Amino acid sequence: MDGSSSSSPSKRLEGKVAIITGGASGIGAAAVQLFHDNGAKVVIADIQDKLGQALADKLGDSGVCYIHCNVSNENDIINLIDTTVTKYGKLDIMYNNAGIMDRSFGSILDTPKSDLERLLKVNTIGGFLGAKHAVKVMVREKINKGCILFTASACTEIGGLGSPAYGVSKYGILGLVKNLAAELGQYGIRVNCVSPYGLVTGISGNTVVDPAIIETKLSEMGNLRGEVLKAEGIANAALYLASDEASYVSGQNLVVDGGFSSVNPTFMKAFNLIK
Ligand SMILES: NC(=O)c1ccc[n+]([C@@H]2O[C@H](COP(=O)([O-])OP(=O)(O)OC[C@H]3O[C@@H](n4cnc5c(N)ncnc54)[C@H](O)[C@@H]3O)[C@@H](O)[C@H]2O)c1
Repeated sequence: MDGSSSSSPSKRLEGKVAIITGGASGIGAAAVQLFHDNGAKVVIADIQDKLGQALADKLGDSGVCYIHCNVSNENDIINLIDTTVTKYGKLDIMYNNAGIMDRSFGSILDTPKSDLERLLKVNTIGGFLGAKHAVKVMVREKINKGCILFTASACTEIGGLGSPAYGVSKYGILGLVKNLAAELGQYGIRVNCVSPYGLVTGISGNTVVDPAIIETKLSEMGNLRGEVLKAEGIANAALYLASDEASYVSGQNLVVDGGFSSVNPTFMKAFNLIK
């Protein structure tokens, strides 16, 4: 068989059309690259126009384009989805990945209401609107095997990984996943989220600390040694959920944290069974 043919098993999204919000940077950008490599037509949706357009130009063919979209603005979302369907004829995969943080940690006591509202607006309402308008089109066009995907966070599995406001905004995503999976199974639409442990991306902001040092620290604090979580690791999980390999997977929170949220090594450390 000709390995470069369109039926190559490495093209796991051949023939699919995907939108990736927050696709200009970090996890979203890695997913854009990977979905494109796997044969999907990809629309990058973001508010960082220069970065998003540069990524589309770099991938440089008619199968990738950039559209400005603030996910908390419903008209932007409607325009994004309408433009995608006009350009590529359909929408198979809506990956609601765009997100923001208020700060890494912090107490509820000094969290202003405005912080919570800002996070809910982008992380939760943005995901809700993306899903709503994608589903509208998928149902109308009778899309076979539609896929709604979100990036939540490992803070949906265990406390202490982020600020209270961030946790609220990401738990909202999990609520959406479960309730949409219940509603949309009747249309053959699968709904899932991928939940990363901490990794260095644009969301970490401009810090005085060298990103490599933060990466090493995260890796040392993690459960799985000898491995550093990169955006590509999350994009790979998203690719699985978006592909037909996950054709009977719906309503799931795929936590990519090396087991961090499933284990409590305190006892084993106390008895010197592990370092
Ligand atoms: N990096 C981590 O440690 C981590 C951990 C768990 C979950 N996440 C989640 O992963 C997702 C991707 O984040 P990342 O780490 O790649 O960070 P990132 O900052 O590199 O990427 C986020 C992208 O979302 C875009 N964005 C922000 N607000 C937007 C809006 N209103 N409309 C459209 N686009 C918007 C940004 O411009 C950026 O390109 C987020 O939902 C984040 O909460 C990240």
